[in-house]
Amino acid sequence: MPESTSWRPGDALLADKVAVVAGGGRGIGEATTRILAAAGAAVGVVDVEAERAEAVAASLRAEGATALPVVADLFDEAACAAAIGAVTAEFGRVDVLANVAGGMTGLAEWRHLEHWSTEQWDRVLHLNLRYVFWLCRAVLPGMVERGGGSIVSVTSISGVHGAPNHSAYGAAKAGLIHLTKTLAVEYGRFGVRVNAVSPGAIATPATDAVLSAERKATLAAATPLQRPGRPDDIARAVLYFASPMSEYVTGQMLLVDGGVGSKFPLGGTGTHVSEAALPTG
Ligand SMILES: NC(=O)c1ccc[n+]([C@@H]2O[C@H](COP(=O)([O-])OP(=O)(O)OC[C@H]3O[C@@H](n4cnc5c(N)ncnc54)[C@H](O)[C@@H]3O)[C@@H](O)[C@H]2O)c1
Repeated sequence: MPESTSWRPGDALLADKVAVVAGGGRGIGEATTRILAAAGAAVGVVDVEAERAEAVAASLRAEGATALPVVADLFDEAACAAAIGAVTAEFGRVDVLANVAGGMTGLAEWRHLEHWSTEQWDRVLHLNLRYVFWLCRAVLPGMVERGGGSIVSVTSISGVHGAPNHSAYGAAKAGLIHLTKTLAVEYGRFGVRVNAVSPGAIATPATDAVLSAERKATLAAATPLQRPGRPDDIARAVLYFASPMSEYVTGQMLLVDGGVGSKFPLGGTGTHVSEAALPTG
C-alpha cells in the first residue's frame, strides 16, 4: 500500500521525502517550508521573489537541511511545470505539494463586488486557485506512478464563511476547498491524499501591511483562543496532512482559526445573549 506504514512516534515524519512549497519564501509558506524541512524532507522553495526563495533555502541549508530555491511566477503555466521539473530533476520526485501562495494584494482589493474589474477578479481567482490546478497536474503523474503522495492547499476561513469585500478571494478559496475534495476522490485509489488547511487571521507580513494595531487587537479579542494565529500554527497543520500521521485522512478541510469559525455569529467581541443573562457574582 502507498505511503509509509512503518512510521512510529519518534521517527522523522518526512524522512527521505521531497516536498514543494509554493509561496515558500515568506509568511505561512516560509513557516511551512521550515517545518517540512525540520521533519526531514528535502524542500523546493518556490517563490516569485528570488531573494525570498534564496534566503529561506540558504538558511535551511546552513542548518543542515536540504533545500532548493526555485524562482517561478505562479501566474505562468509553463513556469509552474518548470518549477516541478526543477525539483524533480534535483531530488528525483515530489512526494508532498503544499500550495500556500495566495491572498489579496492589500487594501486596494477590499471593495464590494460592483467595484471589481474583470481583470482584478481574474487575478485573485488565479493567485488562489488556477495555479493550484497547474501544480497538481504537474505532480500527479509521478505520485500515481509511485503509488503515493500528499497535496495540501492553504485555503481560508473566507472560503467557508462569507465576509464583506472578499467575493473573489472567498470564491477562489471555496473553489480550492472543493478541488481538494474532488482530487481526493479521483486520486485516492492511487494512494494520493489531498487535504486543505483554512487559516483564520494569521500574523504575517501580508496582514501586518493592512491591519492596524487596533484592528488586530479587536480580532484577537473576538477569537476564542484570544490571540492572532501564527504562521507556525498553519505550518503544523500542513505537516499533519503531509505526513503519515494522517495516512487515512483525505478530502478534508481543517479550520485553524483559534475557534473563530465555531462561534455563534455575533461579530466583534459580542457576548452571546445567554452569557449576558448569567449572574456575574
Ligand atoms: N495571513 C492570513 O491571515 C491568512 C488568512 C487566511 C488565509 N491565508 C492564506 O495563506 C496563504 C499565505 O498567506 P501569507 O499571509 O503567508 O502571504 P504572504 O504574502 O506573506 O506570502 C505569500 C508568498 O507567496 C509568494 N507569491 C505571491 N505571488 C506569487 C506568485 N505569483 N508566484 C510565486 N510566488 C508568489 C510571495 O512572494 C510570498 O513570499 C495564502 O494562500 C493566503 O490566502 C492567509
